Amino acid sequence: MAFTQRHLLGIAPLSVEEIELLLDTADGYVEVNRRSDKKLALLRGLTQINLFFESSTRTRTSFELAGKRLGADVVNMSVATSSIKKGETLIDTAMTLNAMHPDVLVVRHPDSGAVALLARHVRCAVINGGDGSHEHPTQALLDALTIRRRKGRIAGLVVAICGDVLHSRVARSNILLLTRLGARVRLVGPPTLVPGGFRALGVEIFHDLRSGLRGADIVMMLRLQRERMQGSFVPSLREYFALYGLTRRVLEEAAPEALIMHPGPMNRGVEIDGVVADDIHRSAILDQVEMGVAVRMACLDLLTRPLRGEA
Ligand code: NCD
Repeated sequence: MAFTQRHLLGIAPLSVEEIELLLDTADGYVEVNRRSDKKLALLRGLTQINLFFESSTRTRTSFELAGKRLGADVVNMSVATSSIKKGETLIDTAMTLNAMHPDVLVVRHPDSGAVALLARHVRCAVINGGDGSHEHPTQALLDALTIRRRKGRIAGLVVAICGDVLHSRVARSNILLLTRLGARVRLVGPPTLVPGGFRALGVEIFHDLRSGLRGADIVMMLRLQRERMQGSFVPSLREYFALYGLTRRVLEEAAPEALIMHPGPMNRGVEIDGVVADDIHRSAILDQVEMGVAVRMACLDLLTRPLRGEA
């Protein structure tokens, strides 16, 4: 099966077959990344620019490693050092970069829709590294790969996504991907952060953590995205932890082998207790980071196949 998408702007445009092709391709790269010689020549001669308008540690590093391991020339641009600080518009930036003939642009931006807008003004493939509270497709793909490798399947699993769903592009992309692959998705959090409108996406909503976790196979915790909040969504961090923080005790509600996930960065003592996060038997948080590099290699590979004369 061929991957026919020109860009990876979200999970929404992808078919089940395309999602599975991405995951199967990524599976192969997990093995490459565990070898001592991780360098391939697949993307030799191609240029990848990582353009980050928002700070990032794991996503940017992971895209950089993915590109380098496939043999591409990788350039990182962050806003602090670019002319965006000098007032250049997004479209001018896009057209300037386009004139340098990159083959792939990886873009993160604080506004929903900004990455799709930029994609319309460049000739190369664009990967969304997170746009506002809209989508973060590679995060959902790496989460799916983590679940598939640890549980052997996705269909039929009960996945509880807990915390600040409202501001989370990770949640949105995960809801789209997991429901499409047949998981039963629950959203758990206070009504201010998990409004009823999400039901339209085919999920169940719980405002009580214990009930939301009952029997769950996957417990995915989200950070309170305070930088995206205007006004007050939670009474205090202490009270939030008391009601919605994942502790050993509340985790007992979940299925016995339930897997704990978190996209990072974690706020220990706010949405998750440090002891739970560090439990090597239950926590898949570092697996997620490992899968991130493999998934990004798969995205770069599939999107550049037409350039490399492959279908
Ligand atoms: C997330 C993001 O930036 O959307 N982090 C990530 O990419 N792993 C989640 C967050 O910032 O809380």
